[in-house]
Amino acid sequence: MKKEIKTDIHLEYFDSMNWYNESSAPKNVPIIDLKGFNFDSKNNDIEKIKATIIECLKNGSGFFYIKNFGIEEAYLSEFLRVTGELFQMPKNEKEKLICPTLPLRGYTETNKENTALAINSGDSPDICMKYTWTQNNIYPNIDFKNNWDLYMDKTRSISRKLLELIRSALGEDEKNNQLWNNVINGEGMVRHLYYPDIPSNSEDPLNHNLSTNETPLRMGNHSDIGSITLLYQTPCPNGFVSLEAEIDDGFVGIPAIRNTMVVNIGDTLSIITGGEIKATKHRVLQSNHQGSERTATALFYFPSSDFDLKKIDKTEYQGLIGKINPNTFSDFLNSMSENYCNKNL
Ligand SMILES: [Fe+2]
Repeated sequence: MKKEIKTDIHLEYFDSMNWYNESSAPKNVPIIDLKGFNFDSKNNDIEKIKATIIECLKNGSGFFYIKNFGIEEAYLSEFLRVTGELFQMPKNEKEKLICPTLPLRGYTETNKENTALAINSGDSPDICMKYTWTQNNIYPNIDFKNNWDLYMDKTRSISRKLLELIRSALGEDEKNNQLWNNVINGEGMVRHLYYPDIPSNSEDPLNHNLSTNETPLRMGNHSDIGSITLLYQTPCPNGFVSLEAEIDDGFVGIPAIRNTMVVNIGDTLSIITGGEIKATKHRVLQSNHQGSERTATALFYFPSSDFDLKKIDKTEYQGLIGKINPNTFSDFLNSMSENYCNKNL
């Protein structure tokens, strides 16, 4: 089976990708245009955007797209090129970028993490390679570092601005709500996921779905643990829609639409709003057919490390972390990261 990783990702290659168009967005997943948008101004667009986001998070799917978010496609193509080169490096070179100690960072081999198991929502190994960028990063070269630093800066900035909009739309005090201040002044973790072309009926040793009658998955059903997630995804060449969100008691495909990012809310934000806004669960399907490789680059925005978990009802967290009783988000994140590191196959 062909398993080379496509690294010649330039704009021409973007043009040839099998993107979905905007009319393919599910009806409960709005596309929010941020063109010319100044997050600090008080114009009608802000009120319209806030209303659309809050309706989506309170009563809709909990997922929305953004477009014209201020990151050029030319830069994204370069980011994907340097990242693709990392995954194409010889095995022994990639292994030098594996980091077994916290914080979670560096290179992760296919099937070495199990998102569903880590958060106790099932058992479905992640059939993808990952590379993670947070603190004390390890990287192959300075070009790579510069690209990843920039991606982190840009996506953190967008996340922070979206969270300020959500806080404002919920009528929260801008100065005196310490939990919200911790959320806004948060930290980011970027993870790039490369899903190789392994059909669900293949006998490839990396395929863990061969013997099951259930829906073949590349990543099990889960909600994200932070406050907000920005996802930049590329489409499968065969048109397969891999990402699904759990909406209205069913799963709905979230296709890769050119020049958009997908935004969803994590558990932390849902909990501090008393469940007022949703942390929608989602999963990643495996295709039955060849031509289903894809990439997804996620910015997970977490509250600042001193976010005081003692001040909130931790009922939902207790389900995630078992016996551990963290005082701060930093403790919580470390215990979750240990779950990822230790619950390997
Ligand atoms: Fe997720």
